Amino acid sequence: MEKTFNITTFGCQMNEHDSEIMAGMLADMGYTEKSEKKDANVVIINTCSVRDNADKRFFGTLGQLKRRKENDPDFIVCVCGCMMQQSHIVDQIRRKYPWVDLVFGTHNIHRLPHLLNNVIMKRDKEVEVWENGGEIVEGLPSRRLHHGKALINIMFGCNNFCTYCIVPYTRGRERSRHPEDILREIRDLAGDGVREVMLLGQNVNSYRGTFKDRDKGEYCTFAGLIRQIAEIEGIERIRFMTSHPKDLSDELIQTFRDCPELCGNIHLPVQAGSDRILKKMNRRYDREKYLDLIRRLREAVPDITISTDVIVGFPGETENDFQDTLDLIREVRFDSAFTFLYSIRRGTPAAEYPDQIPDDVKHERFERLVDLVNRISAEKNAKYEGTIRRVFVEGRSKRNRSWLSGRTDGFKLVNFPVLAEDLPEGMAAEMPTVSEAEEKLTGCFVDVEITKGKTFSLEGRLIDFK
Ligand code: SAH
Ligand code: SF4
Ligand code: F3S
Repeated sequence: MEKTFNITTFGCQMNEHDSEIMAGMLADMGYTEKSEKKDANVVIINTCSVRDNADKRFFGTLGQLKRRKENDPDFIVCVCGCMMQQSHIVDQIRRKYPWVDLVFGTHNIHRLPHLLNNVIMKRDKEVEVWENGGEIVEGLPSRRLHHGKALINIMFGCNNFCTYCIVPYTRGRERSRHPEDILREIRDLAGDGVREVMLLGQNVNSYRGTFKDRDKGEYCTFAGLIRQIAEIEGIERIRFMTSHPKDLSDELIQTFRDCPELCGNIHLPVQAGSDRILKKMNRRYDREKYLDLIRRLREAVPDITISTDVIVGFPGETENDFQDTLDLIREVRFDSAFTFLYSIRRGTPAAEYPDQIPDDVKHERFERLVDLVNRISAEKNAKYEGTIRRVFVEGRSKRNRSWLSGRTDGFKLVNFPVLAEDLPEGMAAEMPTVSEAEEKLTGCFVDVEITKGKTFSLEGRLIDFK
């Protein structure tokens, strides 16, 4: 029987990258990836626990697999990721979802081949979740989702314990990879044609990588790492996610100024605009410090694009606190913002705070917030109309299959048509069909003239691909 798998991934880019690694290990074991769960005999669900809607979607997905398992005893259901690091979730799976064959956590994904073989050989369940991350495991295979760009973990875990957040409990303490390991990985990727790297960590600003063959006291900073990556032949764009305002260094701002490979874009979650709420969130910066960072970033790179995360309805948030958030957004004018309703996470300090905000108040504030954020995004994007942008092509547009999409240096999504009739004559002859255009341009830089700035994306027309 053909060995096939499918992975469903919830959550952030950490999970996305973990899924790439699992896909790499399964490919090495002789499995073929299928794009639909129904065509695969091993199904893996990589979960996220950051907010309750992610939890709900996971249990919904699990429920759907029950029938299949009843009809096909060889079908294997595996669950992993952040939710599995919470013992009450694993208990719930044992009690209510007995058709799950394999449970593992965020610290032991490298054990997947071994655990999966056990399930198959013994025809029994396996549950293996490690409390803490041990040594970082290097050299795992990976099946990259994207062509031409790659996700690279530079550190794992988080030490910040923001009072609302589950991540420090599901991902453990901060551990940084050695710079030599990261550089080797990126050199190999560049050799395979990767031009853009996204450096991943919950708080990349506190990256502190010791060198393998030097004194333990010496270490590489985040900005130092970026400068070394920029030296690698073939790497043209460097991005990172996510950075915490409290640890954003002068050295990093300087690197934004000096290093052309570092893209002029930063995701800098603010969470709230009220000092009182920031304190209760344990964010360890205040509004003034945040605004000062924004000023200095804009001084270094005048057209830097800035995005953020905002939570509404944190326990104790008053209308005045909320006005402070709106006010900060008006002052900064973010290019985009991810907005979240505060969601109680069991085991975090804020879950125990007595002054939880009623749902209707949360929702009403959320709407006002989204209106403001979207209005500003649309205004900012409109300013791009008529300009020519260098776009790194990522593939077909999700909305319109005869269009391609890519990103500007500032991470703006750009969609543009590639039907022959939409292209200048010479170009159309070189790529007469959409598939040929996709084949030719994905993973390459092109010039696009922006014709329309919308709320969440830009539209344009291809003018050059050299
Ligand atoms: N490490 C990143 C954030 C990772 S989680 C950072 O600190 O910048 C991504 C976002 O989810 C957070 O920035 C926050 O806005 C949101 N989030 C986390 N926990 C949440 C909760 N309990 N309720 C609502 N939003 C939450
Ligand atoms: Fe969560 Fe805060 Fe760590 Fe980000 S920095 S992962 S919000 S605890
Ligand atoms: Fe979710 Fe875990 Fe990422 S909780 S946001 S998948 S680190």
